[in-house]
Amino acid sequence: MVEFDVERIRRDFPVLATSVNNKPLVYLDSGASAQMPQSVIDRINHYHQYEHANIHRGVYQLSEQATAAYEAVRTTVARFLNVADTSEIIFTKGTTHAINLVAHAYGRKFVHAGDEIIVSHMEHHSNIVPWQQLCDEVGATLKVIPISDIGELDLEVYERLLSDKTKLVAVTHVSNVLGTVNPIKDMVALAHAREIPVLVDGAQGAPHMKVDVQDLGCDFYIFSGHKMCGPTGIGILYGKRHWLERMNPYEGGGDMILSVTFEKTTYADIPAKFEAGTPPIVSALGLGEAIDYLEAIGLDSIERYEKVLTKYATEALSDIKDITFYGTAPNKAAVISFNIKGVHAHDIGTLLNDDGVAVRTGHHCAQPVMQRYKVPATTRASFYLYNTIDDVDKLVASIRNAQKIFS
Ligand code: ALA
Repeated sequence: MVEFDVERIRRDFPVLATSVNNKPLVYLDSGASAQMPQSVIDRINHYHQYEHANIHRGVYQLSEQATAAYEAVRTTVARFLNVADTSEIIFTKGTTHAINLVAHAYGRKFVHAGDEIIVSHMEHHSNIVPWQQLCDEVGATLKVIPISDIGELDLEVYERLLSDKTKLVAVTHVSNVLGTVNPIKDMVALAHAREIPVLVDGAQGAPHMKVDVQDLGCDFYIFSGHKMCGPTGIGILYGKRHWLERMNPYEGGGDMILSVTFEKTTYADIPAKFEAGTPPIVSALGLGEAIDYLEAIGLDSIERYEKVLTKYATEALSDIKDITFYGTAPNKAAVISFNIKGVHAHDIGTLLNDDGVAVRTGHHCAQPVMQRYKVPATTRASFYLYNTIDDVDKLVASIRNAQKIFS
């Protein structure tokens, strides 16, 4: 096994050498957005400087090259997710956009009055609101899988919720607040036993572990580029051909048509059917470069390293007086949410920033999780391949400083 050389990795990320408030930046908010390595930045710049043209439209060389580069990323993403049919990879603007796409294109076709959609209590708003809107519109009902005190899904209740009325299960791979890694494969098997499709929000999963959608068996898997060292404005929807072909288009215009007359429009085959308008070409190229970067290091190595870091961070933070953790499941990704008694999370975040430590504070776009644990907000430290033991030590020291100010 090649040793995980975090110092070498850090040198790939220019921003990690910068300072905030005259302190070296300690970036612990990769759950919100990860930093980009130089190779991704270079790829984006090179495209803007020398390669830009619209795709799928021109017969001239620049356009054909841009098209080829964009389509090559589709192949990269398919390999990344172990998808055999590249047409099952749809480029979107991000995770939220992709979930909305499915809610419209699958939901408005297959979900009717009296039907049910199952989500979990630990979902990000992006995997709640589109389903709620759909349910309101068609007269369906949202069912919720509860979570335990340590932040695991209650699979017995889940099994009981599955019924002939269920038209879709939409569940997160990894909770963005609790860090829990959900047993997707088992959940898919239970749903498929009743022929119910499963959508997985992989925004916090795909960046941190090897994802094999054939092994998971899910019908849809979704993630964003910017949480995995790529740029913003790009996301991926993997969907099984069986569903994508049956779904209605989501947005109209541009590349998604075969022919248009005032009487009738016919649609292109997948994936074009779901890629209306000029897509985020440069962001797709950046994502492709980010995947190459992560794969060169190895997703398995990244996952192993993050587990070591998370264990160290959990133990180090546990020594802090009056700390409460939210999400302590044994199978947990590199996300630690906590509160310090007597200090609001936003005050912790502001004081940490004085020390150059960047964490996210608030409800993390997951208000039902806050309601479950009866807190208005938490502080969340989320780690990635470029974080170090030293980052954790600085986080702990900075929290202790903040505590002193409030004591
Ligand atoms: N979904 C992102 C987060 O958890 C923004 O911070």
